[in-house]
Amino acid sequence: METAAPKTEAEAPKGTVRARLVASHRKLEAILRGVASSIRDDDRSSMHDDCVLFEGELLKHIDWEEMYLLPTFEALDPTLANELRSDHARFRATLGRIGIEIDIHAIRAERFDEFASDLGAHAAREEAMYATLDELSDDDYAALERQHTTFFF
Ligand SMILES: [Fe+2]
Ligand SMILES: [Fe+2]
Repeated sequence: METAAPKTEAEAPKGTVRARLVASHRKLEAILRGVASSIRDDDRSSMHDDCVLFEGELLKHIDWEEMYLLPTFEALDPTLANELRSDHARFRATLGRIGIEIDIHAIRAERFDEFASDLGAHAAREEAMYATLDELSDDDYAALERQHTTFFF
């Protein structure tokens, strides 16, 4: 019986990077809900730990997007790529301020909810953008896949 030759990277099915990025958004949202709930319950220890976890996950996610995804996406829609970069800059700044507010016990639930809603709108715009990655050539998609695997695994 003949066995199929192993697939090369260029033959890997498209959609893998997109699925990983969408899964990362869902994971970030779940951690964010935990922080929001700790803020409402005034559970300071868990609010601090969850915020540190969220910050690490979010910064790694957006660092990868800026290093690899947005330069690739720029060719498809430069205006949106720039808007997404400016969202990231705002998130980094807001996250820094929220971290300080949590440390000094000055965080307000409404302010945190605004941040969560800003992130949610960004994720929705990005997920529409992720879907357009299928338009990339097989080689460009395989390169993106390789860069994602090297960065995260
Ligand atoms: Fe992003
Ligand atoms: Fe994202």
